[in-house]
Amino acid sequence: MKVGIVGAGMVGSAAAYALAMQGIASEVVLVDKDADLALAQAEDISHAVPFVSATTVRAGSYRDLDGTFVVVLAAGVNQKPGETRLELLGRNAAVFREVVGEVLAVSPDTLLLIATNPVDVMTHVATRLSGLPARRVIGSGTILDTARFRSLLGRHLGIAPQSVHAYVLGEHGDSEVLAWSNARAGSLALVSFADQVGKPLTEEVRAAIDDGVRNAAYKIIKGKGSTYYGIGAGLARIIRAIALDQRDILSVSIVTPEVVGIPEVALSIPRVIGAAGVLSDLMPELDVAEVSALVRSATILKESADSVPL
Ligand code: LAC
Repeated sequence: MKVGIVGAGMVGSAAAYALAMQGIASEVVLVDKDADLALAQAEDISHAVPFVSATTVRAGSYRDLDGTFVVVLAAGVNQKPGETRLELLGRNAAVFREVVGEVLAVSPDTLLLIATNPVDVMTHVATRLSGLPARRVIGSGTILDTARFRSLLGRHLGIAPQSVHAYVLGEHGDSEVLAWSNARAGSLALVSFADQVGKPLTEEVRAAIDDGVRNAAYKIIKGKGSTYYGIGAGLARIIRAIALDQRDILSVSIVTPEVVGIPEVALSIPRVIGAAGVLSDLMPELDVAEVSALVRSATILKESADSVPL
């Protein structure tokens, strides 16, 4: 399967590397306004390929995106230290006004996978600009936050994160909602499992995990300027579900007709992902506080999306 990636910066190239290392795509084409950067990233990644797969990784221009099954939009500018994702909006919406049209002119039937932040509102922008069905314009959303949540819970409980079934909902950002109430470890409710293994989820444990998820990016950006390995792997995970039509349940973002009473908003809830894109939405059972937090998150995203002139 052929995958295009527009934006050969750290996120786009990390996604290309993850795809190549897992052999998920037969071909990955990197496009960037800085052609030298795209070429250098593609060359470097292609030198890793012989160790693990047979993926063709190359640089190209928009016209080389013909026949792509998925195109990742990772073009745009990154958060500056301390800057919120929503503060990036104006700068990156301008980038998408150019990029989306260029991609669809060459690959009108592609699926769009949005990585550029603020990813939920950028997913909304890409959906409106592209005219594609919402289920074919997928934002990475809280897939990374959910991974962070599962990783920290697994570390606390002493189990593999893959055995933790917990989701982060809403905005990929400050208002995101950690859905503690329906989280499970194996087939047990999280609280019950934690008590059974003598690792209770005390208030301070919950607060530490919440901080570790919600503020992960700020801490990493402070230390090294940007994040890319986590999101790169998250993008590859979504593409694997599409490429293999796996019907995985992933917390990704698409424009949704209504969530917790908020109309036409792009945010993350668990969704079934396959070759056709998002196949179905799964609204989890939440407690009162979580519903209230999700309403707040959805309201913030809706207001931001409505503020973007297209
Ligand atoms: C992060 C970026 C991808 O959360 O928003 O690391």
